[in-house]
Amino acid sequence: MKRILPLSFFILLFSNSLLIAQKSIEQRVDSLIAIMTIDEKVGQLVQFNNGPIDRTQLIREGKAGSLLNVLGTTDTRKFQRIAVEESRLKIPLIFGFDVIHGYRTTFPIPLATACTWDPGLIEKAERVAATEATAAGLNWTFAPMVDIARDPRWGRIAEGAGEDPYLGSIIAAARVRGFQGTDLASPTSLLACVKHFAAYGGAEGGRDYNTVDISERTLREVYLPPFRAAVKAGAGSLMCSFNEIDGTPSSGNRKLLTDILRGEWGFDGFVVSDWGSIGEMIQHGVVADQKQAAILSLHAGVDMDMESNCYAYDLAAAVKERRLPEAELNEAVQRVLREKFRIGLFDNPYKNCDAEREQRDILTPAHRQLARTVADQSIVLLKNQGDLLPLKNNIRSIAVIGPLADDQNDPLGPWSGHGRGEDVVTVLQGIKAKLSSQTKVRFVRGCGINDSSTDGFKEATKTARESDVVIAVVGEAAGMSGEAASRSFLGLPGVQEQLVQALEATGKPVVIVLMNGRPLAIPWIAEHVPAIVETWFLGVEAGNAIADVLFGDYNPSGKITATFPRTTGQVPCYYNHKHTGRPADDTVKWTSRYIDIPSIPLYPFGYGLSYTTFSYNGLALSSGKLHSNDSIVVTAVVKNTGNRAGEEIAQLYIHDEVASVTRPVKELKGFEKVAVVPGESKTIRFVLKADQLRFYDLSMNWTVEAGKFKVFVGPNSTEGLEAEFEYVNQ
Ligand code: NOJ
Repeated sequence: MKRILPLSFFILLFSNSLLIAQKSIEQRVDSLIAIMTIDEKVGQLVQFNNGPIDRTQLIREGKAGSLLNVLGTTDTRKFQRIAVEESRLKIPLIFGFDVIHGYRTTFPIPLATACTWDPGLIEKAERVAATEATAAGLNWTFAPMVDIARDPRWGRIAEGAGEDPYLGSIIAAARVRGFQGTDLASPTSLLACVKHFAAYGGAEGGRDYNTVDISERTLREVYLPPFRAAVKAGAGSLMCSFNEIDGTPSSGNRKLLTDILRGEWGFDGFVVSDWGSIGEMIQHGVVADQKQAAILSLHAGVDMDMESNCYAYDLAAAVKERRLPEAELNEAVQRVLREKFRIGLFDNPYKNCDAEREQRDILTPAHRQLARTVADQSIVLLKNQGDLLPLKNNIRSIAVIGPLADDQNDPLGPWSGHGRGEDVVTVLQGIKAKLSSQTKVRFVRGCGINDSSTDGFKEATKTARESDVVIAVVGEAAGMSGEAASRSFLGLPGVQEQLVQALEATGKPVVIVLMNGRPLAIPWIAEHVPAIVETWFLGVEAGNAIADVLFGDYNPSGKITATFPRTTGQVPCYYNHKHTGRPADDTVKWTSRYIDIPSIPLYPFGYGLSYTTFSYNGLALSSGKLHSNDSIVVTAVVKNTGNRAGEEIAQLYIHDEVASVTRPVKELKGFEKVAVVPGESKTIRFVLKADQLRFYDLSMNWTVEAGKFKVFVGPNSTEGLEAEFEYVNQ
């Protein structure tokens, strides 16, 4: 007779085998550490760049644990062979690279993919990025960047998910899952590195690398949640940030790297410094020399030194001089080795050195197809007066104008991995591919991205006048966002706005296609131009995706995840701000506002249009009271009131009406993307848990206080239905 074993048996068996595997990793790490010299231990904590200096001898001597920027299986195999065949202990190297939005198949920048509000899709995109990067010899990506950015002057806003901690946390976890897959040892799994810990986006004035001075409450409620979510999702490594917070540079911040990260959150992966950031503590002025920097950093919890050479040159001496306990060195080594074991490098150091896979798995048609889908959904329709869009395919003539219209490099955006301009479909190419020879498409550049010359305006306006519609592709160069690319002015660079004004003056309908790495301040355009399509930097499929939207083959569904200010002076400008004692009222002088602009932003967080329209009705709560450890169900009906099928991203926000510390005017706590056909109504359902109402009270307890809460459901952070419930502490 066959016996059917209960499911619990298999679960037990599975968890036991996991425990055994885990135990054997710990044992293997410990037995290795037991035979390592101090120099070899330090070697595991050193990461070198693949630059002009030849590191092969250091690898042979066991003095390097990792290399960054080595691309391609030929080179990774070459270095790995030296490590595992010529060094005394044969410890494999781990190869890292910035795979921020794709490897060769460049996807839209992270700020763009966040606008899909689709964690499942983002996870798939990172799976592709991991598949390609691991096929090219890499084991480790310095991503996801999960820094909350409330200041668009900061160029690195392009690399993250925007301004909201809730959405940022969900996307952070999705990216980690996408990179790492379900089994770190698989040949297509790429170790994630969540960065930059912490509050790097809080730089004063939005200037990169600048000082951060924020309260512990803001740190914990706004900046840390996405890190915690990424750690919870299993991120195997973390990068500390360049900045200081309240006088302590992150590379020497034990409270962050040890007490919070490891103590409170239980992180057992390893921490790498940012590029040279350990040595930069000398410039910060908290240490006098490299040796002190190395001691402070290791003690704080930085396990690996990326390129500042403080560990390489000074750490071993510090330990030998007993200025740092060897036990602390051992702990750091343990964490690095543990991850190398987990990703399977000891079992197969060449796991990602498969030249055949490198040929097969990179830039495949399926990868490009996914990049196009992601790009379609990343686009945000900001304005569409008089339903100018979508354009008809049988339109007679189109003027495609602007410095980015036929540009093959800038659509790759900042941090474009191994992406190549030759793989990019430009907007002009994408438009032409949609149309028959019956439509006359003419292109004029008009001006450069950041030039002062208006010489090209004449030809541009002449072509505009001779066409039925004008598509103006304007924005930033890829290098104007990303690292070390802060801007003090958030308008269009150069004479591009003048070009748009000249085109508008022709009287022809103008569609603006924006390409940029941050929210821009474009009040004139927003007021005068009938249609605006925000496309960010969409990667290799940019032109096809933009054409999909311009001609209605894809009905735009994206919503912005960072507020667009009216002017640079309105920054910082984010939706979840505090009320103040004098909330802005533009009709009353003595309120918290500027006298020269309206108080509301140009486009609020969560905003984005569609070619159809949606109505919201019937907001209902399963109960007017929410008890501790319980939840309420919030429902609303979304109806497609237009005449095209579309997807709507419905958002749920709360507001804590009275609390012992001031609370934001709104906080996102749920969202759902729903597909609705014309005339159809769909009920959307959110489960709001008591836990989601928590905040840090006056004594920094993570708590919920009894009292009334508002709940809002709607299409963005400023519109929607409103109801109220009471939280009861029992
Ligand atoms: C410095 C950047 O801040 C960081 O994000 C990146 O991963 C490293 N350089 C390595 O390229």
